[in-house]
Amino acid sequence: MTALASSVAPDTLQDYLAEQEAKPLLRFITCGSVDDGKSTLIGRLLYDTKLIFDDQLATLERDSARHGTAGEEIDFALLLDGLEAEREQGITIDVAYRYFATAERRFIVADSPGHEEYTRNMATGASTADLAVVLVDARQGILRQTRRHAYIASLLGIRHIVLAVNKIDLVGYDEAVFADIAGEFRRFAGDLGFATITPIPMSARHGDNVTTNSARMPWYAGPTLLGHLETVQLAGEDLGRPFRMPVQLVTRPDQDFRGFAGQIASGRIAVGDSIVVAKSGRTSVVKALVTADGDLSSASEGQAVTIVLSDEIDISRGDMLATPNDRPQLADQFMAHLVWFSTEPMMPGRSYILRTETDSISATVTGLKYQVDINTFSHEAAKSLHMNEIGVCNIATQAPIAFDSYKDNRTTGNFVLIDRLTNATVGAGMIDHPLRRATNVQWQALDIDQNARAALKHQKPAVLWLTGYSGAGKSTIANMLEKLLHASGRHTYVLDGDNVRHGLNRDLGFTPEDRVENIRRIAEVARLMTQAGLIVIVSAISPFRSERRMARDLFSDGEFIEVFVDTPLEECAKRDPKGLYKKAMAGELQNFTGISSPYEQPEAPEIHLKTAGHDPGELAAQIEQYLAGR
Ligand code: ADX
Repeated sequence: MTALASSVAPDTLQDYLAEQEAKPLLRFITCGSVDDGKSTLIGRLLYDTKLIFDDQLATLERDSARHGTAGEEIDFALLLDGLEAEREQGITIDVAYRYFATAERRFIVADSPGHEEYTRNMATGASTADLAVVLVDARQGILRQTRRHAYIASLLGIRHIVLAVNKIDLVGYDEAVFADIAGEFRRFAGDLGFATITPIPMSARHGDNVTTNSARMPWYAGPTLLGHLETVQLAGEDLGRPFRMPVQLVTRPDQDFRGFAGQIASGRIAVGDSIVVAKSGRTSVVKALVTADGDLSSASEGQAVTIVLSDEIDISRGDMLATPNDRPQLADQFMAHLVWFSTEPMMPGRSYILRTETDSISATVTGLKYQVDINTFSHEAAKSLHMNEIGVCNIATQAPIAFDSYKDNRTTGNFVLIDRLTNATVGAGMIDHPLRRATNVQWQALDIDQNARAALKHQKPAVLWLTGYSGAGKSTIANMLEKLLHASGRHTYVLDGDNVRHGLNRDLGFTPEDRVENIRRIAEVARLMTQAGLIVIVSAISPFRSERRMARDLFSDGEFIEVFVDTPLEECAKRDPKGLYKKAMAGELQNFTGISSPYEQPEAPEIHLKTAGHDPGELAAQIEQYLAGR
């Protein structure tokens, strides 16, 4: 193995850079936990390819003597631990990309922390990788997380797997241990569609089979890790794929120039080619392809270009340019594989922000078809996805988005889901295919609209959303409020949780999933009713912030009025009008709000009713006043 430093030194920096550029690039990821020796392995790779800078090396030698766990030797893990600590403090991004090179190839390794809960980082770092190094500790063999990593790697379209059976020194360089682990891995990963599976016995700490063949394992005739990385067949760019380019920037340096800059996600484009804007369907012809190094006559996958068109058509950041004869899908519903990262489970019906290369839009999982059992890869029925679980689901976006199937295009076929309240990335998805049937349903424009209906009733439609514990007084206040409004000639309707559960929501219980769906339906009905011009009073526990937020988002500004009926839990339990608290505390009633199911208090309700010491009539009048003051 020739490491970079020992290759013939080029004359100038320019030559050096040109030489580097010309080398093929392999992107790979490492999966495994720190305990498996991941940091040590990457440290070793960087060290042996002489890419650690001298000053870093000096620090490393010093720290190894001081804090290391490797005796007199250098503790390579320390190289990466600094980064790990930064990550824990949330300073750096979750995935660090490290670059190194040999005489043969350049490498980019996406390194992510490897604890069980870090599936997320793997999924985000891997979508461009060609190969995954899955680490196992020879003493422990294949673990649940090994299977998960292999499965996710296959989901992400990674073609090559290296099974790094590390710490082989700790099992006495035993061939049988290695053979058992390799055999077990091949048995379950065999069906995952990898082009190659390459098990390598190694000791990252001592350097066995990492960059040089180990004399301690004469029974092993395969490649070293670096040798394999240098020779594994790279997927040639498939220029036969249809042209796709997400527009990252519209550049307009002067009146005469307007260009659309981005990186070509797939295919090839040449001056004179026709293009289409995926969403609007507008077409034009490529007039020029501009780059920092001058104009090109054609460009292909991976290149960053600015496209100048021959017509002035409306295109903005987030549009996707494509070839007109093979356009991306355009749909607002699709089926996808979803990997869940959050400690908060994924719930069908809950609204998330879905982000693709081009779009950022409200979306809900409309149905979870099944969950994948990581051990058997079988499909299991499930109602929600918990952290690290993987499922197949249907997703609906608020408006159509342009995409491809992930298997056709990893760039235009992936997405992440983001929590609306915390802004955390909670899941990553791979789109399977659009759902045509649903896409064919269109919105019918009607001539009589909300304004017309409201005008006839001489009122401003609104929804008063009463939230609070069971027994807080919501229904009583709702009833009195409606009487007040009715008496002054208002057209109203009360949607009461208990009542709705007798009909429309008869099929729902009190699990978190069912509550999410309960609130979604109530919110949709409330919306239809405000469309009809009514003043709607909703009275439902609606314990989750996320769904109250979702409900709010269905209405126009000022139309949704959140009313927190704030009665302390102890007081509700004392009143216990339906005897439910008693049952819940005796364990006879499951998932009871405040006892065995959470209630998330509103943070900024329009109206905060502290009920203690006030009678319901007074509180209802307070709401009526707020309405009148609008
Ligand atoms: S919500 O949580 O989904 O918004 P909703 O307001 O529709 O609840 O229904 C709550 C009513 O159902 C309560 O007022 C109570 O009468 C009844 N109920 C029965 N079981 C439960 C339970 N486990 N948790 C809360 N309410 C329950």
